[in-house]
Amino acid sequence: AKTGVVRATTTAPVNIAVIKYWGKRDTKLLLPINSSLSGTLDQEQLHARTTVAASSSFEADEIWLNGKQEDISNQRLQNVLGAVRALAAKKDPEHPLKDAHIKIASVNNFPTAAGLASSAAGYACLVAALAELFGVQDQELTAIARVGSGSACRSLMGGFVRWEKGTRDDGADSLASQVVPESHWPDMQVLILVVNAGKKGVSSTSGMQSTVKTSALINHRAEVVVPQRMKDIEKAIQDRDFQTFGRITMQDSNQFHATCLDTYPPIFYMNDVSRQIVQILTQYNDAAGEIRAAYTYDAGPNCVIYCLKQHVQEILSLVCHYFPSSESEFVRGRSTTASDYSST
Ligand code: PMV
Repeated sequence: AKTGVVRATTTAPVNIAVIKYWGKRDTKLLLPINSSLSGTLDQEQLHARTTVAASSSFEADEIWLNGKQEDISNQRLQNVLGAVRALAAKKDPEHPLKDAHIKIASVNNFPTAAGLASSAAGYACLVAALAELFGVQDQELTAIARVGSGSACRSLMGGFVRWEKGTRDDGADSLASQVVPESHWPDMQVLILVVNAGKKGVSSTSGMQSTVKTSALINHRAEVVVPQRMKDIEKAIQDRDFQTFGRITMQDSNQFHATCLDTYPPIFYMNDVSRQIVQILTQYNDAAGEIRAAYTYDAGPNCVIYCLKQHVQEILSLVCHYFPSSESEFVRGRSTTASDYSST
């Protein structure tokens, strides 16, 4: 029998890692070589919004991203669709949507593929929307988001979230879980300095594969450095110890970019402006005699600053002082409640 059309719409936020995921041990299941940890941003600022519709009268699965039809045969998408359908069939072999095709429409309210974790929000959102459509809820959902884009598994929860690398070959223990909810550290803020909103040059997928293949430093990072940092930063978060949190955040960003430089041929995600911002913030912290602004950079030139509420105005004034006629926008988000938006 043909079913009518059923729909679900969800939004999912971006997350910004303070311990970076870089390197896969399994490129099909998207299993990482190291655990990672991120803060989930406020939904109001940067989010993906996805509507999924299902009906057995649809002739095929289809997807539109930011208004443009994309290739549904994309392996990552197929992994996600297949995994949600399998989970639904496991719960109910006669699931009403078992023969339905699915149409997906997703929009980001921020630049896609510019190192602002668009794939994380996108896949987390897709999985949340499909889970609602199929009526499945499970910790397994983080594993399904993971097979779309690794870092997406950390966007299904708020606050600070860890993604355990796990040890199993089937990935069943490579899951995300919440370290603390947003309410634990209400003074924590996130500022995003958009240095360049264009598409990044080297995708994280191909970048991390070349790093794993050619870098002599990456194994030391994954095996020795990150396990200790995961413990230390979790404790700093539990204790609301911004000095330790900020130092580890900056060191881990630096080391991730060091492994990119150690990749052969080298990968440069940060540009001259990114490096200038590092210098400005370093001088600012030194002058204050404490860490007030902790920078971190993903696979792109944009700077994300973790800071405490009482220093936001000071940091914004500092950035405006050095980049007075900047065309770039400031997006100010926070990992807790309200947020606002201002342009320089
Ligand atoms: O999930 P991906 O393939 O977009 O990789 C994300 C990698 C970084 O953003 C650089 C780090 C991270 O942990 O989010």
